[in-house]
Amino acid sequence: MKIALFSNKSYTERYFEMANKSFGHSMLYLDQRLGLETAELAKGCQAVCVFVNDVLDSAVLTRLAELGIRLIALRCAGFNNVELDAAEKLGLSVVRVPAYSPYAVAEHTIALMLALNRRTHKAHARVREGNFSLEGLLGFDMYQTPVGIVGTGKIGALVAQILHGFGCDLYAYDVHPNPDCLKLGVKYITLDELYSTCRIITLHCPLTPQTYHLINSESIAKMQDCVMLINTSRGALIDTKAVIEGLKTERIGYLGLDVYEEEGDLFFEDLSNQIIQDDVFARLLMFPNVIITGHQAFFTHNALTAIAETTLSNINEFEQGRCQNAVLCQKMISQKKCGCGPT
Ligand code: NAI
Repeated sequence: MKIALFSNKSYTERYFEMANKSFGHSMLYLDQRLGLETAELAKGCQAVCVFVNDVLDSAVLTRLAELGIRLIALRCAGFNNVELDAAEKLGLSVVRVPAYSPYAVAEHTIALMLALNRRTHKAHARVREGNFSLEGLLGFDMYQTPVGIVGTGKIGALVAQILHGFGCDLYAYDVHPNPDCLKLGVKYITLDELYSTCRIITLHCPLTPQTYHLINSESIAKMQDCVMLINTSRGALIDTKAVIEGLKTERIGYLGLDVYEEEGDLFFEDLSNQIIQDDVFARLLMFPNVIITGHQAFFTHNALTAIAETTLSNINEFEQGRCQNAVLCQKMISQKKCGCGPT
């Protein structure tokens, strides 16, 4: 199949080229982000391969369908950037990589927690300048710290497992409690209870209409003073302006982000010689108790290998009339007999 791969980076191409040796698809690597202005570049292809910040709204999907695209192959787990209703009407199927390395994201989440707690980012800068003062670097033991995990799927459960090793008191909220977490001793409580109980709150649920701006001024008001908030899931789980207010009033004492609601215009690019136009993001960068990474939680050798292999295998399966990792499968819709994965 001929595949237009949007938002290409040198590392993406390297891993896809390695994996494609066993698949033999025809790849068209495009640096451009998919949007209405760039959709045309997929002409002549039957599938597009996209990432987290590519735009797949109804207008873009309509253009892709007109160009003969039949498959949207997401090389990520989240599919909040695809207008599924529109894709269904247009006869497009959508596949994803449900898990490439939950370990990568869980481990990065812990890295943010520990760096914020022990202020490693500040200590590193200080020591390089010959400042060995410990003033302002005071941390707290993770042992017996109450930590709340929102969403205990693959990543949230691994975060629980790692924190269990530290001896944290673990609490969680999920619409479907995870038996592995229950076995570990994680206590499932309501969101309000989690907000008032936990010193650290970490988000691992998907972005859906129900979870959009889950963290807002009302939920922040229910949290402990000086709470640590971590989001490695999706930017729009957080109302960033409310979080900035929380930081200014010191209700939020630490903030670790790997994702940002408006990251599409910033992340994955070198903008070091440009002026950042996003004033909300620029304000976030000013706080000493905020660490932001640019959507890199997934970025390990293991995850890139798995992303490339699973994506190309998803495309193969689609060609063969199967689709284990379907988000939306047209064959299932029309014939109700495809053994594909959950929608
Ligand atoms: P998963 O599907 O295994 O787990 C998600 C969990 O959230 C499930 O247990 C589900 O029941 C729960 N959930 C759904 N709606 C909820 C709600 N309203 N409130 C509370 N819990 C709810 O997903 P996985 O693999 O653990 O990934 C979690 C998220 O991490 C993804 O949705 C994705 O957005 C993000 N992610 C971020 C990456 C990064 O590089 N920063 C990389 C990979 C994923």
